[in-house]
Amino acid sequence: MTESDRSSVQPWERNWKIERTLTPGGQGQTYHVVPITCPGSPAVLKVLHRQNDAKARARMRQEVTNLEILNTTGGKVPKVLEHNTEQFKEDAIPLYFVMEYIPGATLGHEVEKAGSVPLETAVNLVLTLCQTMRIAHGQNILHRDIKPENIIVRDLVASDAVMIDYGLSFNTAEVTQLTSIGETIENSFLSLPERHISGDDRRDPRSDVTYLCAILHYCLTGCRPGNLLDSRGMQPHQREPYKLDNKVPGRQRLTLLNGLFSRGFSYSINDRFQSVDELQGRLKEILAAPADRAREDLLSVAKLESERLTKNNRRVQLDIYRKACNHVGSELANYINKLQGKLGRFHVVPSGWCKWSRDEHKANADVILLWSANLIVEAVEKLQLGIFYAISSKGAECSVYRNTVISHDPARQKVKELEHTIVLRYRGDQPPDASVIIEDFEDCLARCMRSVPDDAN
Ligand SMILES: Nc1ncnc2c1ncn2[C@@H]1O[C@H](COP(=O)(O)OP(=O)(O)O)[C@@H](O)[C@H]1O
Ligand SMILES: [Mg+2]
Repeated sequence: MTESDRSSVQPWERNWKIERTLTPGGQGQTYHVVPITCPGSPAVLKVLHRQNDAKARARMRQEVTNLEILNTTGGKVPKVLEHNTEQFKEDAIPLYFVMEYIPGATLGHEVEKAGSVPLETAVNLVLTLCQTMRIAHGQNILHRDIKPENIIVRDLVASDAVMIDYGLSFNTAEVTQLTSIGETIENSFLSLPERHISGDDRRDPRSDVTYLCAILHYCLTGCRPGNLLDSRGMQPHQREPYKLDNKVPGRQRLTLLNGLFSRGFSYSINDRFQSVDELQGRLKEILAAPADRAREDLLSVAKLESERLTKNNRRVQLDIYRKACNHVGSELANYINKLQGKLGRFHVVPSGWCKWSRDEHKANADVILLWSANLIVEAVEKLQLGIFYAISSKGAECSVYRNTVISHDPARQKVKELEHTIVLRYRGDQPPDASVIIEDFEDCLARCMRSVPDDAN
C-alpha cells in the first residue's frame, strides 16, 4: 500500500464516521465510530496497524472469522457488523472491521479503580468468561491473548463480562502459518513458558485456561503475575503482597482458592487445569463452600434450640417431667426398706414400676410414672392389698393419683377398687415433694391394715 493509497478515501469511511480514538492496542487501532446514516448507534472500528504485513492481515481475517463463529454459537463476544477481511490477500486494500460497541470499562480499569473485586463477583465473572471459552474451545478457537485489557466489564455486580480482541486467536482445525513454532507470542500480563520455549506448543487450549486463573487472581488482588514463578520460585498467590489470606472470607473458600491457584499456576502445563470444564468445576466448588459468617457459639445455639423443643415438643416435655419425678420411686422403696421386719404380721412388697389399669386416667393425660406395692398378711395367703401410684401430665401440670385395690386370690382375678384419689398436683418441670406421697402411702397402709377382717384367709 502506498502513501497516496492511504490518503484516498478509506473503505470504512463509506458507512462510518470516526468520533474518537479508543485505547491503542497491539494489533490494530480501534476507534469509536457511528454509522453515517444513524449517528446514535456507536460501534467500534478496528484498523490494522501493519497493513503490509501478510501475517497481520491473515490474523485480522482469522479474528473476524472467529468472532463470527462465536457469535453464531452463543459466545459472549462483540458482533461483527461490517468488514472487508476476505480481501486479506490483496495488499493494496486497507483491512478493517467494525463491531458492536460494548459499553463498560476494561477489567484493567475496573480493578485499578476498585483495587480488587469481591470473591463471589470475581468467581462469577470468570465463570462467565469460562462459558465463552468453553464454546470457543469446542469450535477449536483459542484466544491466546487473555489479559485485563481484552475483557470489557459490562456490569461488574452482575459479573457480565465480554471477551474481546481475538487478534491473536487461532483455529486449531485450520492449517495456517499465523504463528510459526519459533515465533514468540508475548503477553506481558502473564508470560507462559510454553509460549517462548522453542519446541513447545503455542496452540494449547490449556494456556487459555491458565490465563483465566490469572484473571481470577488479578480480580482478587490486583496482581499482574508476569510469570508463573518469580525469582524465588513463588507462584503468584504465594507472593507476599498478593497472598489471599486476609482477602477472602471463609476458611474453606480460602483453602479451595489456594488449591485452585496452586494447580492453575503450575509451571508444567500437564499439572495445570486440563480443560475449561475442570476450572469451571473448581470455581463452582468455591461458590458452594460456606462463606464467612459470624461464628456462632454452639452452646448458645444448643440452649436456644433446646428451649424451643421444650416449649413445643410433647415427647421432650414428658421426658423432662419423667426425670423430674424419678426420685419418687426410689424414695418409696427406701421407705419400705426401713419398714422391713417392723410391721408385725404385715409385709410390704414393692413391685416397682407397673401397668396402670384405669383407662379414663390414661385417656385424659399422658402417664409418666406408675409404681405399686402390695401389702401382704403373713399366713393369709389369698388376700392382697395393692397400692398404686400414677403420675400423669396434662399440659405443664402433673398429678399424682393413688389407687388402692383388694383381691382375694393371688392371681388377682377378682380385684375390687377401694379408693381412687388425688394425692398431689405440681409443675411437671419441678421435682414433686416425695414426702407428701410417702405420708399418703403411710396413711394408706394403716387403712389397709385396719381393713383386713378377722376371718381373712
Ligand atoms: N467492541 C468493543 N467495544 C468497546 N471497546 C472496545 C471494543 N473493542 C475494543 N475496544 C477497546 O479498544 C481497545 C483495543 O482493542 P483490541 O481489540 O484489544 O485491539 P488490539 O488487538 O490492538 O489490542 C480495547 O482494550 C478496548 O478498550
Ligand atoms: Mg487488545
